[in-house]
Amino acid sequence: MRVLVIGANGQIGSRLVHRLHDAGHNPVAMVRKEEQVERFNEYEIETVLADLEEDFSHAYQDIDAVVFTAGSGADTPKSQTKVIDRDGAMKAINESEKAGVDRFIMVSALKANRDLETWSEPMQHYYDAKAKADEHLRNSNLNYTVLMPGRLTNEEGTGKVELKERIDSKSITRDDVASVIVGLLDEEQSYGKSLELLQGETPIEQVIANLT
Ligand SMILES: NC(=O)c1ccc[n+]([C@@H]2O[C@H](COP(=O)([O-])OP(=O)(O)OC[C@H]3O[C@@H](n4cnc5c(N)ncnc54)[C@H](OP(=O)(O)O)[C@@H]3O)[C@@H](O)[C@H]2O)c1
Repeated sequence: MRVLVIGANGQIGSRLVHRLHDAGHNPVAMVRKEEQVERFNEYEIETVLADLEEDFSHAYQDIDAVVFTAGSGADTPKSQTKVIDRDGAMKAINESEKAGVDRFIMVSALKANRDLETWSEPMQHYYDAKAKADEHLRNSNLNYTVLMPGRLTNEEGTGKVELKERIDSKSITRDDVASVIVGLLDEEQSYGKSLELLQGETPIEQVIANLT
């Protein structure tokens, strides 16, 4: 599949682009700075320069699937969370519908769809933005999966996860999030589902094969 990765220069995004490439897909890394192109050129991975705060419709040339893994980051003002995590994601969904994209995977966050009132600021603000973008996707006509990983770590992936509609809070490596996205991409059992994702004891392939 030709997969547009929005947030490709990010920590999950860059891992994902390489995993997709290794798995025989054609990732298109959406980055917003000229100097970020080089790190993908080196591996003959296609890039597109585009910014979620501008018109980025040109990024959707012949795209089969979109993964949204962008984020405003923890060090930006609250207003930027709305601009990127909520509005940027919603625009990416709208553009996908316009361009006739079939598949959309949203990297959301664990508990973005529940217990919102239990979070204090600024986390409540972040979860609210994530929740609104996720809801917009659920109401779209795309074959979506909302993937809700727990706290992300940079340790090496174990290849073993839990992927369910509801799990108690734990963490997950970015490595394993990227691997799960590659596995879910053409897994129809994940269409129309919102799945929480955490480190677990079951190999990723088996977890995905067990989806019903
Ligand atoms: N941190 C956690 O524990 C946690 C837990 C669950 C879910 N998540 C979610 O997981 C996702 C990925 O996390 P991560 O750690 O990989 O994030 P990350 O490393 O911060 O990457 C985010 C990417 O978004 C890009 N971006 C920001 N503004 C943009 C814009 N205007 N146009 C285009 N791209 C833009 C950034 O571009 P630049 O590289 O140019 O800055 C960056 O590459 C995020 O949505 C995050 O909210 C995080």
